Amino acid sequence: MRFDIVTLFPELFAPLLVSGVTRRAYESGQVQVRLWDLREHGEGAYRRVDDRPYGGGPGMVMLAQPLLECLQRIRADRPAAAPVVLFSPAGPALDHEAVSHWAGSQGAILICGRYEGVDQRFIDAHVDRQISLGDFVLSGGEIAAMALLDAVARLQPGVLHDEGSHRQDSFNPAIDGLLDCPHYSRPELWQGRAVPAPLLSGHHAQIAQWRREQSLLLTERQRPDLLQKARSSGHLTARDLALLARQGPAVADPES
Ligand SMILES: C[S@@+](CC[C@H](N)C(=O)[O-])C[C@H]1O[C@@H](n2cnc3c(N)ncnc32)[C@H](O)[C@@H]1O
Repeated sequence: MRFDIVTLFPELFAPLLVSGVTRRAYESGQVQVRLWDLREHGEGAYRRVDDRPYGGGPGMVMLAQPLLECLQRIRADRPAAAPVVLFSPAGPALDHEAVSHWAGSQGAILICGRYEGVDQRFIDAHVDRQISLGDFVLSGGEIAAMALLDAVARLQPGVLHDEGSHRQDSFNPAIDGLLDCPHYSRPELWQGRAVPAPLLSGHHAQIAQWRREQSLLLTERQRPDLLQKARSSGHLTARDLALLARQGPAVADPES
């Protein structure tokens, strides 16, 4: 899997590639990352990559030609064809399903926008997909690219210490798509707050049942849409449904 990243700020990626458990995916080459400094394809002595928008208005627009030249250089360097992805508020929001898709793919060419965005003609001619990180505006696509890389890297075999751990994470549709349960560690009593008794019982079935219930209740409270999906896809057992019925309808807490 190889990701080629087109950016005006390649130095932003350095800490990501050497930190935390995911660095193993980059070091082993399971997830290859190539950084391409768009400035090298800029125009003229000042290596210009942006200009004022036609029609006036604030800000600058990323020029199509430097992006095209950078893309051509990447394509000449890549052994296999790859989709071109632009990070943009206009794309669908990144979610578990999209991350799973990219985690099982051969990678992509990722374009990080800056300024007011990219000349639309380049998007129309060369971009296959757009990805948003959510309904807010970042100053550049780099953080979105890092979010995608991180989420993809942790799904690679052998990257997490415990192979099973990502299977139990939130949003995994292969299990149920629910939110993960709450977690606790030492000490047993912290500032007057105790660890829930079932977790201290040493009784595996009781612990598993408690975790299941917490996951269901948390999802019902915070993300009823996910619970509804799990219900309609048949991921809830009779016991799950009985628990939810006993609790009655949850009211989401807007503060949490
Ligand atoms: C300042 S933003 C441009 C925002 C654009 N004028 C708009 O209002 O939609 C500069 C670049 O940051 C990236 N970006 C901003 N918000 C993003 C988001 N929510 N998801 C992904 N990329 C984003 C895009 O690459 C974008 O071209």
